Amino acid sequence: MHCSLHSNVAVVEKEKSTNNEMPIHRPAMVRETLDALSPRAGDKALDLTVGTGGHALALADKIGPDGFLLGLDRDKSALKVAKERLAESASCDFRLFRCPFSKADRAAQEVGVERYHVILADLGVGSHQLEDPTRGFSYESDHKLDMRFNTTKGMSARDVVNSMPEEKLADIFYELGEERYSRQIARAICERRDEDPIETPAELAEIVKQVAARKSDGRTWRLHPATRVMMALRIYVNREMEELEALLEVLPHLLARGARVCILTYHSLEARRVKQAWKEQEDKGLLREFDDSPIMPSDEEVEENPRVRSCQLRAAEALTEGGLK
Ligand SMILES: C[S@@+](CC[C@H](N)C(=O)[O-])C[C@H]1O[C@@H](n2cnc3c(N)ncnc32)[C@H](O)[C@@H]1O
Repeated sequence: MHCSLHSNVAVVEKEKSTNNEMPIHRPAMVRETLDALSPRAGDKALDLTVGTGGHALALADKIGPDGFLLGLDRDKSALKVAKERLAESASCDFRLFRCPFSKADRAAQEVGVERYHVILADLGVGSHQLEDPTRGFSYESDHKLDMRFNTTKGMSARDVVNSMPEEKLADIFYELGEERYSRQIARAICERRDEDPIETPAELAEIVKQVAARKSDGRTWRLHPATRVMMALRIYVNREMEELEALLEVLPHLLARGARVCILTYHSLEARRVKQAWKEQEDKGLLREFDDSPIMPSDEEVEENPRVRSCQLRAAEALTEGGLK
């Protein structure tokens, strides 16, 4: 498929990849990301969360045949789809790795390109994962409650809800999901698992819904009442805040002088942490954030793709090369 990136992006929402049935993620704020990063012909680009390759294709289009793209993700199936799509449409040289972005410096060393002109991190979960019921991210799924980006490592969400002490579960829901009924939900989970383990997202969502229904006196919900609990579990299982922390440390070392970096966040904990870390790095003379306020998606984009409604884009420019003065 050789078409311009913008038309490509517009048509991929319900597209399936050719050799498996994985849904393709529709990338958020592509125009704004390209504006912020200003990729030029011949640039070296690093996509830290390549997903199914939507943003990577857009970057590849701009850096052209003399450019180089390194793409990372923790999700093997997403990388497979991204590889297919880039092989078909990208004119630049590219390498993809299954690698957490906290270890981006190692991947960069491995490919022998240690500094980049444009770097993108599009955090969180993609629709290639949410819409695949076997991955256990969506509260409607009757498959195993899993939620790991890398399905070969660490505890699944099922293991967490069936083994974590009640108080710790409540802390996860409160701290990572800002869930107001965290204690009552943790209690209900523990009562239920004493009888039978919780196996699926749908079972967990039903437990949360019952607590919310008791607490909310017949009020209706704008979002499914399990949304925050599911998000908190996903963040916990994938150590997302720890990963972000490590990424923010390593980023300045990957930047060529004058390079640009862009981070798309989807919840307030991430957004706050990026803002704070960049402020500290600005004080050290490493980075300069373009604007104090983040860029938000347009009303049209939110209408077309409601999943981007919580997206915030922050962009910065390197003041040093590789974090060295
Ligand atoms: C919102 S999606 C990115 C979509 C991508 N921009 C696209 O256009 O298809 C987020 C991706 O980040 C990946 N991811 C999340 N945490 C990660 C981490 N710590 N290291 C590497 N990849 C990560 C997820 O597996 C997911 O594929």
